[in-house]
Amino acid sequence: MRDKILQTLKTTKEYVSGEWLSETLGVSRTAIWKAIHKLKDEGYEIEAVPNRGYRLIMETADLVESAIRLHLNQGSRFATIKVYESVDSTNSEAKRMKVNKKMEEGLIIAKEQTAGKGRRGKYWASVKDEGIWASLVLVPDIPPMRASMLTLIAGLSVAMAIEDKTGLGVGIKWPNDLVISGKKVCGVLTEMSTEADYIHHVVVGVGINVNQTIFDTSLNHIATSLKIELGRNVNRVEILCGFLNHFESLYEKFLKIMDLSFMIDRYNNMCINVDQELRIIEHGKTKEATGIKVTSQGGLMVRNKEGDTEIIYAGDVSIRGINGYV
Ligand code: BTN
Repeated sequence: MRDKILQTLKTTKEYVSGEWLSETLGVSRTAIWKAIHKLKDEGYEIEAVPNRGYRLIMETADLVESAIRLHLNQGSRFATIKVYESVDSTNSEAKRMKVNKKMEEGLIIAKEQTAGKGRRGKYWASVKDEGIWASLVLVPDIPPMRASMLTLIAGLSVAMAIEDKTGLGVGIKWPNDLVISGKKVCGVLTEMSTEADYIHHVVVGVGINVNQTIFDTSLNHIATSLKIELGRNVNRVEILCGFLNHFESLYEKFLKIMDLSFMIDRYNNMCINVDQELRIIEHGKTKEATGIKVTSQGGLMVRNKEGDTEIIYAGDVSIRGINGYV
């Protein structure tokens, strides 16, 4: 019911009477009043004027379920949304939900992670209310070999959302880091449960640095946030939903085609490794090469020092620009 009230207030933009809401939604005036109070508690600014009704003055910037639903495309596959005050890791929680059969597909969000996970066993700093710490739970009917492509789809979707909503220029460091002004603003960690030829589920975890003003000294030189780049707070609901809506439309195409051909030009246009001198670190060994392009199978095509082309895949390697992180 709260979602419906919110939708009505948002689309009407004018006063909506409690009486009209109660008749239209088939609930008591008291139920409407309570729902409005709950929305106010969630951070919505709603004006209540006797004899006129309720009017939405300002939406909440807090990551609450109602706000996320309000901004998701109609019929979104992320119908199940769980928002936690604090969890160890949204990816770990997503996996627990699947193991305990508590979710088919959906979205897990936490205001804070106490043990956020990065790639290669690294820790992901996830300070309360400053970023977006989210995991998508998906059950794609695709061969397991293709699941890593979801990382690239997620990366491109976040990049598009940031560009749409903030106007900032975003680069993608293949396969999954988003970079602004040479520093990392977002990372993607995809984990899955599979049989040899069958996917049980995939968890696509996305961490976006949004409103941090400082980072630990260990991260300061490589991490940035949207707030640092823009000099103002950024609404996390808008960025999250922009990402989810882009992701969903790319994902639907991917499920039909099962490769990245439909989006690869866009990905390559944003990819900072194209034409870049790279250091490729594989099983502790480092070699140098030049990035050529990302292929529609999600691999990075490079030209090695011998002049031969080869395609590298994300699971095996980590890449750096020859002058540091980017
Ligand atoms: C990386 O770049 O190393 C990947 C970082 C992924 C972080 C996100 S935050 C939400 C989700 N839950 C986690 O524990 N990790 C991912």
